[in-house]
Amino acid sequence: MSVQPKITPEAAATSRHDTPKTTNKKVLEFVEEAKALFKPEAVYWCDGSHTEYQHLLKTLVDAGTAMWLNPEKRPNSILVRSDPADVARVEDQTYICSKSKDDAGPTNNWFDPDEMKTTLRKLYDGAMAGRTMYVLPYSMGPIGSPIAGIGVMVTDSAYAVANMHIMTRVGDAVWKALGNSEDFVRGMHTVGYPLPTPTTADVPWPCNKTKYISHFPETREIWSYGSGYGGNALLGKKCHALRIASVKARDEGWMAEHMLILKLTNPQGKSKYMAAAFPSACGKTNLAMLVPTVPGWKAETIGDDICWMKFGADGRLYAINPETGFFGVAPGTSTESNFNAMETLYANCIYSNVALTDDGDVWWEQMSTPPEHTTDWMRRSWTPKSGRPAAHPNARFTAPAKQCPVIAPEWEDPKGVPIDAILFGGRRATVVPLVVEALNWQHGTFLGSIMASEKTAAAAGKIGDLRRDPMAMLPFCGYHMGDYFAHWLKMGEKGGAKMPKIFYVNWFRKNGDGKFMWPGYGENSRVLKWIFERCDGTAKAVDTEIGRLPANGSLDVSGLKIAPGDLKELTSVDKDGWKAELPLIKEHFATFGAKLPKALSDELSALEKRLG
Ligand code: OXD
Ligand code: MN
Repeated sequence: MSVQPKITPEAAATSRHDTPKTTNKKVLEFVEEAKALFKPEAVYWCDGSHTEYQHLLKTLVDAGTAMWLNPEKRPNSILVRSDPADVARVEDQTYICSKSKDDAGPTNNWFDPDEMKTTLRKLYDGAMAGRTMYVLPYSMGPIGSPIAGIGVMVTDSAYAVANMHIMTRVGDAVWKALGNSEDFVRGMHTVGYPLPTPTTADVPWPCNKTKYISHFPETREIWSYGSGYGGNALLGKKCHALRIASVKARDEGWMAEHMLILKLTNPQGKSKYMAAAFPSACGKTNLAMLVPTVPGWKAETIGDDICWMKFGADGRLYAINPETGFFGVAPGTSTESNFNAMETLYANCIYSNVALTDDGDVWWEQMSTPPEHTTDWMRRSWTPKSGRPAAHPNARFTAPAKQCPVIAPEWEDPKGVPIDAILFGGRRATVVPLVVEALNWQHGTFLGSIMASEKTAAAAGKIGDLRRDPMAMLPFCGYHMGDYFAHWLKMGEKGGAKMPKIFYVNWFRKNGDGKFMWPGYGENSRVLKWIFERCDGTAKAVDTEIGRLPANGSLDVSGLKIAPGDLKELTSVDKDGWKAELPLIKEHFATFGAKLPKALSDELSALEKRLG
């Protein structure tokens, strides 16, 4: 073990990866600055080719970072086990370094940009000694799409580069699309584990105890240090496509959201597109790929995590999935919970921190009946009696979106898909009904702004145990959340009647026995059908204090085994529950101070008045 990940000399020599592939002055300056700072042993310009991807995998395997899985079980797939202290996004060490502290707002950690750069320059100095610095041009969204955006990332992590190959569009076509433009996000990433002398031993997963995931929104820069984990190291994803893009979207009049995108088609062949925001671990990937139980209805996937929306020439909002892969949570994924995800994983995937079966395949909790023996994510022998999970709870698969059997044919359409409905949702054991339609865009923005999720089942019924996660953007909004709400309202004013309808859904309501009242998964298609028909003007709703609820008989529950009492509760207003929620919403709103748009406090007063 212990040779650091480096591209093989043959690969570097054969296609001249050591020379710049662009004449863009700003890119060349950026790479020179990075080189001077990091002092890598070599610079490798990525071309995004399949050959390059295969070299990266081989490099990772040769370095002991990864191992090949049994090719008969999982062709061309690797298993990576990280350092046990580098397994998740680090929200506490994630910073928005806007010039003014007030621009970061109460939901972000703020640091002065100059001070942060001074701190990081010290850590960056020589941090890539003995390593290769990869230069990676990538496009978030179809190359050349008016909704897409370009980034250039430098990193010393072959793991990050290989993942970016799956998750984004990488390569020479990006340089062509960028031309001489200065409009690209500059990302610098190092694992922070230099190899100063040729005899310094490497480790399978280099990283550093010190971690900084820093964003400079005004200059569209990301400086990441010390972690190799997905959300901290794949800079195209949360750092670029959400934190930096949310700021760019505010400045330019569009939206960058933490949303899946799906296409729903009725038995008559009419389709609608829906975007849905849920906090992490609330089943977004499952919903994006659901198998409808309503006969004749078809669901297809456009994206499972991020959605960029811009106004089209017709005044409607058009959305793209900026990514090309799924970086999904493995535990809990099974043929029952997400058949299409399991089908997607047949080959060409990177697995991180899952368990390894004795026949060279992967396994994680709830995937299937536990095997009698596996090797757990920390490379220890594991049996069902071990009393600990075999896969890390945040173990991940990185899978090419094109392998998803229900990927919609238009998922890469550069003009995007017109969004008919936006859904907000969270894990709420109480209070929030199965589905409620907002009265209008402003009311919908209010519903998104008060979104919350209960952390565990143990918290059921205790509404004090909520984490407010507005629009599921709490860890991802790159500026003041009060300004973000104002931006939503502004978008609504601009789009007027052509804006999507907004709905608030909740699959997680529980009854007095602590059991889920709604079966979830594929049965959620019944709710999607109602939403579709509301957009079409064919399903009936009743106006209530909290919004529009399904009228009696309008939600298709034919063939569904559900207690009539449960159905009634799921589709009615829990007045006392909402009243008890009002002070919590007030407390939540108070955190935004003067930046809370008046329209939202007006919505709160109106709700209070309606509840009586
Ligand atoms: C993710 C997340 O990885 O939301 O998508 O944390
Ligand atoms: Mn996410």
